[in-house]
Amino acid sequence: MSKDFSLMEDSNRSSNLSIHDVSDPARRQVLRGGLGALASSLLAPLGAVGGAAALSGCASLGMSFAAKIGFKSVATSTADAISVPEGYVAQVIAPWGDPVGIAGQNYAFKDDASNTAAEQEAQIGMHHDGIHYYPLEGSKRGLLAMNHEYVDHGLLFKDGMANWSAEKVRKSQAAHGVTIVEVQDKGGKWEVVNPSKYARRITTTTPMDISGPAAGHAMMKTAADTSGRKVLGTLNNCASGITPWGTYLTSEENFIFYFNGGDKLSDHEKRWGLRKGGVGYRWHEHDARFDATQNPNEPNRFGWIVEIDPNNPNATPIKRTAMGRGAHEGATVAVTQDNRAVIYMGEDARFEYIYKFVSRDAIKSGGAAANATLLDHGTLYVAKFNADGKGQWLALTHGQGPLTAANGFADQAEVLIKSRQASDLLGGTKMDRPEWIDVDKQGWVYATLTNNSNRGASNMPAVDAANPRANNTQGNIIRWKEDVDFHATTFAWNHFIMAGDPSLARAEAKGNIQGDIFSCPDGLWIDGRGLMWIQCDMSTSAMGKGDLKNFGNNMMLAADVKTGEVRRFLVGPAGCEITGVTETPDGKTMFLNVQHPGEPANEQNNPANPRAISNWPEQKANGRPRSATVVVRKLDGGIIGT
Ligand code: FEO
Ligand code: CA
Ligand code: CA
Ligand code: CA
Repeated sequence: MSKDFSLMEDSNRSSNLSIHDVSDPARRQVLRGGLGALASSLLAPLGAVGGAAALSGCASLGMSFAAKIGFKSVATSTADAISVPEGYVAQVIAPWGDPVGIAGQNYAFKDDASNTAAEQEAQIGMHHDGIHYYPLEGSKRGLLAMNHEYVDHGLLFKDGMANWSAEKVRKSQAAHGVTIVEVQDKGGKWEVVNPSKYARRITTTTPMDISGPAAGHAMMKTAADTSGRKVLGTLNNCASGITPWGTYLTSEENFIFYFNGGDKLSDHEKRWGLRKGGVGYRWHEHDARFDATQNPNEPNRFGWIVEIDPNNPNATPIKRTAMGRGAHEGATVAVTQDNRAVIYMGEDARFEYIYKFVSRDAIKSGGAAANATLLDHGTLYVAKFNADGKGQWLALTHGQGPLTAANGFADQAEVLIKSRQASDLLGGTKMDRPEWIDVDKQGWVYATLTNNSNRGASNMPAVDAANPRANNTQGNIIRWKEDVDFHATTFAWNHFIMAGDPSLARAEAKGNIQGDIFSCPDGLWIDGRGLMWIQCDMSTSAMGKGDLKNFGNNMMLAADVKTGEVRRFLVGPAGCEITGVTETPDGKTMFLNVQHPGEPANEQNNPANPRAISNWPEQKANGRPRSATVVVRKLDGGIIGT
C-alpha cells in the first residue's frame, strides 16, 4: 500500500528457503538450512557471494543457485498500457468485479459500478496484491489465491462516498479480503473457470477462528465475541505466503486505518497508530465494530497472519496469533534441516521491525490436516542489525529480559498483541518500511525496504548501518544469511541493492543499481530457477516528481542474485502498482497483479471522471480502470525470464 498519510506509518517513537509451487511435488523446492556461515562485509562486492557453499538440497536439483536473465529490457514508460519484452505476450484475467465463479451467483461487472454489495461478495475484489498458483492439473489448470488490499471508493461506487450508507460500507468490505479462483489454459489463453467448486471470496465479514497463545485472552474479547476466539473477516491483505503443507498465508497490513479512535487514546492505541476518524474508510459510521470507542478490543483482533486452505472451500480461515501482531506485509516460509517452519515477516511502517517465527514442531507429511496446529506453537523473534554486519534475533518470550508484568506484559498473549512495544523494549532495529521477503537457493534472505522519507528528519530516528540513507526516497533491498540454519539466533547481513537514479543531483537518491533503474522496491519473489523478481510501488503522490521524476510508471524487474544485474521486464499502466507474482510449475506462465491503475495522488478517483488517469485494461468509453491479474507468456512457449 502506498498511503502516505504523513505520520500514520511511523507510530514507532521509542528511543531505541522459500518454497515454490509447493502443491506440486514435481516442482517442490523446499529450501533447507545447514548453510555454511558466510563471511560478509557491508556492501560487499556481489561476486563474493558466489564463493559460499551451495545448499545440499539445491545441489541435488542440479541447478546453479542464480538464474541468468535472458530477455531484452523494456524502457520506462508513462503510457496507460502494459509493456513486456520482445517475444513476450501479456493477457488480462480476473479483473475487479468479474464473477469469481460461485455457482448460482454469476453477477456481471457493471461499468457504472452499480453492482450491489451482495453482488460484490461473489465478484473478484479490488486492488489485487499477493498471489499464488496452486496446481490442480500441473501447469494447465489450477487455483489462484490472491489478496485484495484496499479500495478506491471513487471507483467502487457511481457517486463515490456521497450518500454514505450501510450498504456502501458492506460493499467496501466485500471488495476487500481474498479471492480463490480456478483458472485454466484453453489453447494458449488463460480463463477463469465459471462455475468452479473451489471459487470463493473471503471478505471482511467472513467468519474466522483465532488460534494460538492470544486466542481467548481478555484483550481479544468483545461484546459480540465473549470467547475471544471468533472474529469476522480480514482486511488490508497485502503480501502473501505459502506453506509446504499447501495452505495460503495472507497478511493484515494497515488494519488500524479502518478504526475510529476517541479523543483520548491509550498508550497502546497510540503505539499502533489509532486515530480519531480512522483514515478515510468511514466504516465505523455504519458498522460499530470499527468504532474503537465502542469496541476498544476489536483492533487487537486484526494485524495477524491468516491461514487459508485454498483447496477446501469449506475450511474456516484461522488467525495465527503465535506469529505476532503487526502491520504485516507478508509471511515467507523456509524450512530447517529438522523440518521446522520458519516464517519471515516484515511490518511495512516507518521505523517498524522485521520478524521471524520458528515453529516448535516439525512439519508432518499429510498436508493441511496434518499441520493444522503447526503455526500455533513456536517462538517469535525481532531482528537487530548491528553495525558490524552481524545481527541477532531477539525472542519475544514472556518473562525473558524486559518482557515482564512490571513492564506491561502480563503473559505471552500480551507480548504478541503488543509486539511493537515488546520489540521497542528489546531493542530491535527500526527499519525503512520492510515489505516482501524471500530466500534464494543459497539461503540468503532478502527483504525490500521500500522507502522512508522521515529517516533522519528532526525528532525521528537517525540513519544506521542497515538503514543508511537520510530521506530515503528510493528504498533498498537488504539481505541476511542465518548462522548454521534458518532457526539460528544470529546472522550476517549486507545490502544487496540500493535503489535510485544515478542522474539525480542528491547523493542519497543515486543508488548503486547495476542495470536498469527502479525505485521503491516492494514485491519480491525468487522463482523456481533462482531468478529474483522485484516489483515497485512508488506512491502516486510522489510518482514523476523530485527524486522519482525519471522512473515513469511502476514496474517489475528481474535481478541475478549472483551478479546483482537488474533488468526491467514489465511496466504497468498509468497510476498503478505492480504487486504479487507467481508461476505455473513449468515456469512458462507467470501471473502478476496490477493494483489500482488510475490511482490519483489522493488515492481516490473522482467518480464523475473515473477515467482521468487510466482506463486500463478495457479502455472502454464508459468504463473505469480495474485492478486485474496479468498473465505473461513467451511467444515461443519458453520459460519466463530466459
Ligand atoms: Fe501493502 Fe506495504 O504494501
Ligand atoms: Ca498500492
Ligand atoms: Ca508499498
Ligand atoms: Ca506491498
